[in-house]
Amino acid sequence: MTKIPGRTQRSGGLFRRDLLKLSGVALGAGAAAPILGRSRPARAATEITFASAKFFGKETIAQLVDAYNASQDKVHVTYRELPPPSASTEVHQALVQQLARRNGAPDVFTQDIIWIAEFAAAGWSLPLDDHIDSSEIGAYFPGLVAGCKWQGKLVALPWFVDSGMLYYRRDLLEAAGAKVPETWPELVETAKKITDAGQAKLGFLWQGKQAEVLVCDLVSFTGSNGGAILDADGKTVRIADPAAVEAVQFMHDTIATHKISPPDLLSWDEEPSRRPFTAGQAVFLRNWSYVYGISQDASESSVVGKVGVAPLPHFPGKSSAASLGGYQYGVNASSKHKEAALDFVRWMSSPETQLRFALQLGLAPTRQAVFDHPELAKAQPFMAQLKPVFLGATPRPVTPKYPQVSLVLQSEVSKALAGGDVKGALEAAKSRIDAIVGV
Ligand code: GLC
Repeated sequence: MTKIPGRTQRSGGLFRRDLLKLSGVALGAGAAAPILGRSRPARAATEITFASAKFFGKETIAQLVDAYNASQDKVHVTYRELPPPSASTEVHQALVQQLARRNGAPDVFTQDIIWIAEFAAAGWSLPLDDHIDSSEIGAYFPGLVAGCKWQGKLVALPWFVDSGMLYYRRDLLEAAGAKVPETWPELVETAKKITDAGQAKLGFLWQGKQAEVLVCDLVSFTGSNGGAILDADGKTVRIADPAAVEAVQFMHDTIATHKISPPDLLSWDEEPSRRPFTAGQAVFLRNWSYVYGISQDASESSVVGKVGVAPLPHFPGKSSAASLGGYQYGVNASSKHKEAALDFVRWMSSPETQLRFALQLGLAPTRQAVFDHPELAKAQPFMAQLKPVFLGATPRPVTPKYPQVSLVLQSEVSKALAGGDVKGALEAAKSRIDAIVGV
């Protein structure tokens, strides 16, 4: 391992000045001062492992891990890359298999916000209350901190927040004299107008694949009609209520009736739906925040400077809803190197690293001061604009049994979309979920 003493030299160099303004904590804590003119006594670093879904952008997670390794010489992290978050079921399975062995590996992991309850209830996540200063916790958005708790204990440390949003082609809307749609009927009308005129091939892209992202889309369509999957009590299943049936009918109709969405999207998750949009073929796209950076990168996008981002539309008389996403850090309760693991997660969640993730990978910070950072406002202007959307996003059901609930929704909503019997499929989903959540 090559050791470069002093984290401010490598990882912090870029942002040092800004971060001094942001917070003294990240740069002060643990930054090893170079010892000039003397060689350091050799010391073996504590070896730990870190497993995370693969995220990409101008940098990779592996590069961030390298920066941590280079910033100090006490801990050395080996990164084990899991599939991308769109392969949610596979990432979940890999983590469950490893954590259930309770052998301490991986020492640190990242988890989708929907697994926090399950991992904590299984006793796999180290409670962090005694290890993270309560003043530090106040630096994060309170909603995210709440999402990182299970039965009153902090069992995860915030990494990034995400939410579904509407990407639109500003240039096409302007040329058509259309405003950014606030309701679904407005979106249908504008999509039709622009595609009928031959200005774009595709109207509205979303993700219909039988996968976790379908549940995310379901949450926002249903929520935008005042409906829900489960009530706040975590037991009353509302997925077959009229508001949800009407919302899923609309998802189906975007393809079958309005013809603003291509039937192909029934097999698309995030990336297949993103590509036609950044290739300039579509008017509207529902997706996560990572798309903005790609859409403004001329090597990947033909719509640089032509993209707007807005809250997702809603049913007339109702309010917009976005599904809450994002991954958070966990420390393995069986880790044999907890102090080293904690040092690493503190660094990963520091203001400096959160800013770097936001600028380089497009992942929205969970620290209030980093979210409001001027450099971020320049690079990802939509984040500041959509701050209320991120912070008001709707969580998927919070229960240790979430993965089972999700698999039922994925299969029944897929059936509804492909076959058209929306009411029948949602009734079936309701009775299967009733059996899981125990009513
Ligand atoms: C994004 C979200 C995550 C969600 C996944 C679905 O990665 O952050 O919460 O489960 O997409 O594909």
